[in-house]
Amino acid sequence: MSRTDRDESVTAAELAALNRAFELARHGPVGENPQVGAVLLAPSGEVLAEGWHAGAGTPHAEAAALTVAAGARRAVLGATAVVTLEPCNHIGRTPSCAKALIDAGVRRVVYSVSDPNPVAAGGAERLRAAGIEVVGGVAESTGRELLADWLAAFTRPYVIVKIAQTLDAKVAAADGTSRWITGDQARVHAHQVRAEVDAIIVGTGTVLADDPSLTARLPDGSLAEQQPERIVLGSRETPPGAAVRRVNEMPGGGFIQLSTPDLGQALDVLAGRGHRRVLVEGGPTLASAFLRAGLVDELHLYLAPLLLGGGTTAVTDLGIATLAQAQHWQIAATQRLGEDLLVIAKPNKEMPCSPE
Ligand SMILES: NC(=O)c1ccc[n+]([C@@H]2O[C@H](COP(=O)([O-])OP(=O)(O)OC[C@H]3O[C@@H](n4cnc5c(N)ncnc54)[C@H](OP(=O)(O)O)[C@@H]3O)[C@@H](O)[C@H]2O)c1
Repeated sequence: MSRTDRDESVTAAELAALNRAFELARHGPVGENPQVGAVLLAPSGEVLAEGWHAGAGTPHAEAAALTVAAGARRAVLGATAVVTLEPCNHIGRTPSCAKALIDAGVRRVVYSVSDPNPVAAGGAERLRAAGIEVVGGVAESTGRELLADWLAAFTRPYVIVKIAQTLDAKVAAADGTSRWITGDQARVHAHQVRAEVDAIIVGTGTVLADDPSLTARLPDGSLAEQQPERIVLGSRETPPGAAVRRVNEMPGGGFIQLSTPDLGQALDVLAGRGHRRVLVEGGPTLASAFLRAGLVDELHLYLAPLLLGGGTTAVTDLGIATLAQAQHWQIAATQRLGEDLLVIAKPNKEMPCSPE
């Protein structure tokens, strides 16, 4: 455990207790709930009690330590609670730990990682409001490492939006035909990207219009070794015989449909399934919704030297009425792929109207 500036505001006894709490946390199972450890210290720095979270539905680490202290008839009044995760502030299957610490008369709380769970967060604030000294973010890198898998579920996946378009920004002709706008090399590249993501997302409009299989294929047409999960967003039913439902023999490559129109919520579901990198392959309605919501980290535009005049435009309404409201992106890379050009763009975070 290395010391940081934040760690200067805690005592050596508290840092040692936090180190011990990290060890205790590892006694708990890895799973739906975080691994958490807690140590209660007397004002003298003596250890009063220890606890850890033994899994979903069992007492949290702080509650376990308070129970041990009570059983040993050790006074907790004026004690310091040292915990690996910010004490929770919600009543779930177990009572709120912030309240339990307040009721026990704890004077000070030292913790490592803030609780990112929107349902449970706010414990530090509640403790402070009750007049308790709170120091958070201590030895945070160790704490985050311990909770890496659990924390990942609260961070949205990296989102790439892919669009294959003509020079005049059309993704389908007036009659709905769109195969193929780009040439072989561009499609090989797009399949490489598919093989590198955890999931491919399309809207129901694309499923119903194109019936894509959304598999990652090698240049010889065979399936790549690792397949992305196939995700359809929208409330209309994906037909029972749709290609996207077809099981393939490679790992990954399952199919799910999410009917929520809330894209943030959909990404939370995907994060919860362990997806860190996802590829949105359209169509224009869904891609535009992601862009409008500021949920896109990377745009892959495959530009084919074709003109269609009419047809379906790549990006529709972004809620922009005037040039001053334009989203600002920067070109991160360009690549010639046969007759086509790949442009990779990322949000320009320096500009006032960049997405996010
Ligand atoms: N060239 C390319 O790169 C490319 C790629 C893909 C598609 N295409 C073409 O694009 C056309 C289909 O595109 P499309 O725009 O009609 O359909 P789409 O974007 O694939 O799907 C639109 C549907 O997505 C669902 N959806 C889920 N969350 C949404 C949200 N937050 N906002 C908006 N929609 C949400 C809705 O489904 P529900 O109405 O069911 O709720 C909506 O109707 C086809 O012609 C296809 O060939 C071209």
